[in-house]
Amino acid sequence: MIYFWLNNNEWFVEQVSLAAIAKELGTPCYVYSKAALLNSWYAFNKAFVHYPHQINYAVKANSNLAILNILAQLDSGFDIVSIGELERVLKANGQPEKIIFSGVGKTSEELSRALQVGVGCINIESEAELLRLNQIAITLGKIAKIAIRVNPDIDANSHPYISTGLKENKFGVNILKAKELYQLSNKLAGIKIQGVAFHIGSQITSLTPFLAAIDQILKLIDSLKSMDIKIYHINVGGGLGVVYNNETVPSPQAYVEILLLKLKPTNLAIYIEPGRAIVANSGVLLTKVEYIKKQDVENKYFAIVDAAMNDLLRPALYKAWHNIVPVTFRDDIPNVYDIVGPICETSDFLGKDRSLSIKENDLLMVCSAGAYGFSMSSNYNSRPRAAEVMVDGENFYVVRPRENITDLFESEKILPN
Ligand code: LLP
Repeated sequence: MIYFWLNNNEWFVEQVSLAAIAKELGTPCYVYSKAALLNSWYAFNKAFVHYPHQINYAVKANSNLAILNILAQLDSGFDIVSIGELERVLKANGQPEKIIFSGVGKTSEELSRALQVGVGCINIESEAELLRLNQIAITLGKIAKIAIRVNPDIDANSHPYISTGLKENKFGVNILKAKELYQLSNKLAGIKIQGVAFHIGSQITSLTPFLAAIDQILKLIDSLKSMDIKIYHINVGGGLGVVYNNETVPSPQAYVEILLLKLKPTNLAIYIEPGRAIVANSGVLLTKVEYIKKQDVENKYFAIVDAAMNDLLRPALYKAWHNIVPVTFRDDIPNVYDIVGPICETSDFLGKDRSLSIKENDLLMVCSAGAYGFSMSSNYNSRPRAAEVMVDGENFYVVRPRENITDLFESEKILPN
């Protein structure tokens, strides 16, 4: 994490000290590095050299408008899964024709809005959705540009909750059904075929599953050719893993090179949908130690911090591991801690068995928290959501203020007497 660095025993983000941010804005607080964000987007973009491609940032990973706007300024595309994400991208000045609408349960309202603003492609997940989209397009006098999402039945070897490309998962259709849907699409007046899509899962640490999926897609493309069905792009989804701990993961460069090697002969544009690989290591969660507690078990220390599973759900939901380091380094003998939040659940932990030299009121930095951190946060236990801050060089900007207590229930109503 070169954008997050130790400066005289104190962690900095670019040129700003994390302690200074905490002092001014309080904790818990998400802190992002603009330079890190740009760097990871460019890493993908550069690797394609001049081959036609579109990077469609997966908005669900982190949908803060500041992040979307920074990427929109690079002419990035966006992968969205709801009308909420659609409106965010538009608000952040994203180009509608560079939006890919994925998702297994798009409503009529969502499909209509997508057609009205002119999104670049709608990824179809079922025959029923294709027929519904056709009807809506005809009613609106529009043509819906589509790709069929294929489920290649490939094991991404990731956490089962974030694997999507197995036939027992709810996503996409099998190759046979895909052929059928392409033939059907060709006959529908409101539909124009653009591409083929798949997405096999997330936090994938080997290129092998991608290669296996691509091999299947190449066969499908051959049969589409023989049926005289023209497509213009192959969307290989997102899913490239990042380093949280000691994983070895392919670099964006290595990943793109493999895609090029396999897909260049088709001459089709390559679409990718990275989320995590763009933002995970561009952000940290800053939290303060409220209490140190020793339980009646040998060497069992708890550091009770002011961030919780409502702020960062990944450890509770997937047993995900995030590095946790003190913002200011202490030279004392460490103890082994479980880092836990104040929420009334035993699953409310950010990390377990961490050897740390810490005291009450110390600040901790939960690393690699830029993806699926704030975007999965909630108000559980009636906790206002954390502030979000973007660092740019020597400056930092609050890109979402901390929620206040009235935000929690402002829109709720008590029944009349
Ligand atoms: N495209 C589609 C169709 C997706 O469903 C996803 C993620 C992506 C792209 C982006 O995948 P990425 O490049 O970020 O791996 N909450 C989980 C991750 C869920 C991913 C869901 N789909 C986590 O915190 O690990």
